[in-house]
Amino acid sequence: MTEYEQLTDLVVADRREEADGVVSLTFRRADGTELPAWEPGAHLDLLLGEGLERQYSLCGDPADLGTWRVAVLREPAGRGGSAHVHERLTVGAPVRARGPRNHFRLRPAPGYRFVAGGIGITPILPMLAAAEAAGAEWTLLYGGRTRASMAFRDELAARYGDRIQIRPQDETGLLDLAAGLGEPRPDTPVYCCGPGPLLDAVEAYCAESGRPGPYTERFQPKAADPDARDTRFELVLARSGLTLAVAADTSVLDAVRTAGAEVLFSCTEGTCGTCETDVLEGVPDHRDSLLTAGERAAGETMMICVSRCRGERLVLDL
Ligand code: FES
Repeated sequence: MTEYEQLTDLVVADRREEADGVVSLTFRRADGTELPAWEPGAHLDLLLGEGLERQYSLCGDPADLGTWRVAVLREPAGRGGSAHVHERLTVGAPVRARGPRNHFRLRPAPGYRFVAGGIGITPILPMLAAAEAAGAEWTLLYGGRTRASMAFRDELAARYGDRIQIRPQDETGLLDLAAGLGEPRPDTPVYCCGPGPLLDAVEAYCAESGRPGPYTERFQPKAADPDARDTRFELVLARSGLTLAVAADTSVLDAVRTAGAEVLFSCTEGTCGTCETDVLEGVPDHRDSLLTAGERAAGETMMICVSRCRGERLVLDL
């Protein structure tokens, strides 16, 4: 069993209102022992009961092995995960977690340009501390609907001063990326987390301006490629010794589960990374929202909940 497959029983040790609609929760292990280590960019799956699972970025201090902290935006139009957290996870409440897992690592660099939109500030918070500790030159451009909706803004301004640009949309409009990020430098990548339209804008801006990155984490899946075609292919599960036919209207994950093979999954929309599986033969047709261009080209792993096969045969390490 990998570390990611381990489940940890937690209790809520502290809970704070961080902004309009945002609470932070600090967890301790239920038995009081140390928690697994993590690095900036990591997230947890919180198993909220009755099949409800949600991913939340860790936003505390990685050096503190006694607690984990997440912050959760209440989404009235959501599917129930954030409402459950806001209504039921009071101090002392038990909750089970899977993880941490990290698809948004901070790579060593002499400088960084961080961009956060709304609750997308959460994975960026520990990245700022890590960049600071490493002596990197960095800035943060932080947008939100209103100042009152932007979690941790006072903490950030007090700690980091004018390296933080707070840009509430009702005061300053949409983020001005060119003005906020300054001159592009080849050794200063962009890291961004926030709503899909912001990530799309940052990706387009980096491509146009020649900036390295962006490295992003998405909470919602990217728009589907309208030209993508779903075709039938043969799937070999190397460890299980099974050969399956994946129909055009079936996902790899569903085919694997129907065959009875053990596989972990959570979001089923290509954003969390839980179902990442090693590819032994064949070319994946990547449709997830988290692998980098380099990882896609390498084709060594794939998210089997959404990705398919470019050819007629795929062999997976399952
Ligand atoms: S289950 Fe989340 S990426 Fe596949």
